Amino acid sequence: MSTENTVVSATQLNIEKIRQDFPILHQEVNGRALVYLDNAATTQKPQVVINALTHYYQQDNANIHRGIHTLAERATAAFEETRQAIHQFINSNEPEEIVFTKGTTDGINLVAATFGRANVQEGDEIVISAMEHHSNIVPWQMLCEEKGANLKVIPVNNKGEVELEEYKKLLSERTKLVSVVYVSNSLGTINPVKEIIDLAHEYGAAVLIDGAQSTAYLDIDVQALNCDFYVFSGHKVFGPTGVGALYGKRRHLEKMPPYQGGGEMIRSVSFEKTTYNDIPYKFEAGTPNIADVVALKAAIEYINQIGKANMRAYEEELLAYAHQRLSEIPGIRMVGTAENKMNVISFVFDDIFHFDIGQMLDTRGIAVRTGHHCTEPLMNRLGVEGTVRASLAVYNTKEEIDQLTEGLHRIVTMMRK
Ligand code: ALA
Repeated sequence: MSTENTVVSATQLNIEKIRQDFPILHQEVNGRALVYLDNAATTQKPQVVINALTHYYQQDNANIHRGIHTLAERATAAFEETRQAIHQFINSNEPEEIVFTKGTTDGINLVAATFGRANVQEGDEIVISAMEHHSNIVPWQMLCEEKGANLKVIPVNNKGEVELEEYKKLLSERTKLVSVVYVSNSLGTINPVKEIIDLAHEYGAAVLIDGAQSTAYLDIDVQALNCDFYVFSGHKVFGPTGVGALYGKRRHLEKMPPYQGGGEMIRSVSFEKTTYNDIPYKFEAGTPNIADVVALKAAIEYINQIGKANMRAYEEELLAYAHQRLSEIPGIRMVGTAENKMNVISFVFDDIFHFDIGQMLDTRGIAVRTGHHCTEPLMNRLGVEGTVRASLAVYNTKEEIDQLTEGLHRIVTMMRK
């Protein structure tokens, strides 16, 4: 992949060359060339990531931070290089502020179980938005139940945008934490997180940003955002499943109690007293997902090589094209029409069940997600039971959008006969 990391006009990105980097794309599904439009669920992996995984298992596999032998040292170095890469990728102040997790859900649960338990007391309030994924709702509900605290919800308008004026009314001295998604997985809405963070800080509340959908395409600078926590998953940034990262400001991480107990997170253990390791190791009990962490670095390098600005410009062009083509289909209703959105098109037909559309698209080799997308409260707010969701990545093409459009045309014609 030879694309240079300079901002080029979107059309100058060599998408065919990029597609060659993803072996999975070159197959037939149900007798048709695969059209993979389920990137918000998980992205495909470039060969460099697959190579990094196999290289690790073929050459370097050992446990980390424990051994003095050569393989252990190599594995440890590769593991810590990914921490360094993430530190630069999201511009944390230092690599120690990066904690490895299983993914976004794990990161949110970690913060709820540590920072949350230590800082949220009876009568306190946690603020989320109505467009959160279940993983950014349920951990806070569990915490509120345990502590006798209250969950407050920022409403969204009919376009699927958070209502900032209503958010301001929810904030008070009781607000201990605000946790919002940067980019909605169901609608693609890009939330004004900087404003949300700054407003929360006026009341002394900490802010967690769910970066599951934003990290691959938006420039992430956690210091400029000034968020207290930022979480994302490897598998949504072209990396492996089962690995992700939590960024936390040092002052929070140092004060937070540990998450899980075990090896690695301790400094010394006796039956009388255990002392804990420094950050970030205090939060990394047990043998971590070493191979996937190592391969995540290859995914970050891959994104850096293409350049996020290039990827975003191309994705914007593709999204506009998809909106234009799909709106030709009789009876289609777009769900989520925020002014500021990216890489997701959600839609419904009032006379055809979303699940049926998804199944019929699959018979044409087209992969989309249908249903509530783990955002049931958002679906309820927007008055739909679920949607068909096509979500785009840098390897998708206008031809694939045409195939989706044609497939939908045929399906709705057939269903309405
Ligand atoms: N959160 C992922 C999605 O939106 C799984 O599909």
